[in-house]
Amino acid sequence: MTLVFANASQVVTCAGAARARRGSELREMEVLEDAAVVTQGAHIVAVGPRDAVRAAHPDAEVVDCAGRVLMPGLVDSHTHGIFGKPRHEEQELRAAGIGYMEIARRGGGIHSSVRDLRTRSEDDLFALALPRLRRLAAHGTTTVELKSGYGLTPEDEIKSLRVIRRLQQALPLRLVPTFLGAHEIPLEFRAAPRSREQYIALIVDEMLPRVAAEGLARFADIFCEPGVYTTAEARVILGAARRHGLLLKLHADELETAGAAELAAELGAVSADHLAAVSDGGIKALAASGTVATLLPGTMLFLGRPRQAPARALIDAGAAVALASDFNPGTSPTVNFPLVLSLAVSQLHMSVSEAVLAATVNGAAALGLAAETGQIAAGFAADLALFDIEDVRELPYWYGDQRCHATWVRGVPAHRAG
Ligand code: NIG
Ligand code: FE
Repeated sequence: MTLVFANASQVVTCAGAARARRGSELREMEVLEDAAVVTQGAHIVAVGPRDAVRAAHPDAEVVDCAGRVLMPGLVDSHTHGIFGKPRHEEQELRAAGIGYMEIARRGGGIHSSVRDLRTRSEDDLFALALPRLRRLAAHGTTTVELKSGYGLTPEDEIKSLRVIRRLQQALPLRLVPTFLGAHEIPLEFRAAPRSREQYIALIVDEMLPRVAAEGLARFADIFCEPGVYTTAEARVILGAARRHGLLLKLHADELETAGAAELAAELGAVSADHLAAVSDGGIKALAASGTVATLLPGTMLFLGRPRQAPARALIDAGAAVALASDFNPGTSPTVNFPLVLSLAVSQLHMSVSEAVLAATVNGAAALGLAAETGQIAAGFAADLALFDIEDVRELPYWYGDQRCHATWVRGVPAHRAG
């Protein structure tokens, strides 16, 4: 079926090279007026002046954009969307001065989500994730990366990844699974007779082979952070993941500087995520590498931490910066990706073009999907978002609002307001 998306006040194409944009390339998101977009089935086939496009496709069905802004669907390349209960009690603890890592040392934080997820069935986790993903979609997101990481046993990690597979069948959204067995050292491996080395061996010898054999994940990730996994341990785990054919991601330099960004660049990881505490050396290493620097400003906001990732320094050094929600029950329980764009502009000092490209083309690049989604250009997937605004600069401006009117993924309607 051929559709012509007509009468948008602006078509923000993000068109250009099918790879991450870096440095000054992030300044040009391309905004067209009086343009129309043609899709055929799952793909975009043409973008051009409205009258010429409509004349060339006289029999196409018209989607009236009614003066709204049409953009590529947002690509959320970092979420922990498979979890059980919310962790609202920790927000008050932090307000009272007990930090994120101190809560973890007391057995809360990630451990609390692990205890909870282990008690739940696959059906239960599926039923919880489904409406949460629909809420992400209702804010304009069309691609969502989803991590395991709240199971930390072979069975519970595989259970989480199987939930993602079921969600892929149940929803039109484009979902990308990541194995995060190295999210924490589980409490039962912290004292004799068991050790952290034994847990790492369990990841390497049992979890990774099973995840790879079942084809359950595209990426492997690790929380490489002082107090969690060291860079030496990350080398071991990520080396094994790579041998099993998985692409690499790291939670890098999130809270404390530890050289994790440098490690990500050295290993050729597809992305290094968080980076609020990245060093100058880490910025240089990322800028000189193909690794996407994925920034998650919602997390620092919600944790109440004063320091945000140095987006300006990264972009000005020539790095490829992406933005993502980090949707998770502990540090970023938001489904509102446009709110992350608001933070990018007002807290990270990014321009609107930089923020939009970071949430589309570069999010796709952080998932190895830069040739498929993130742009409105012929040959790309018909992954589109229509926002109830007249100018794209209103997207980060109405912060916290829900302006998404409709989305399509591979040409299939995925969300519609009201
Ligand atoms: O990206 N830092 C590690 N992982 C998550 C938080 C997970 C949690 O607290 O449940 C993050 O912030
Ligand atoms: Fe995370």
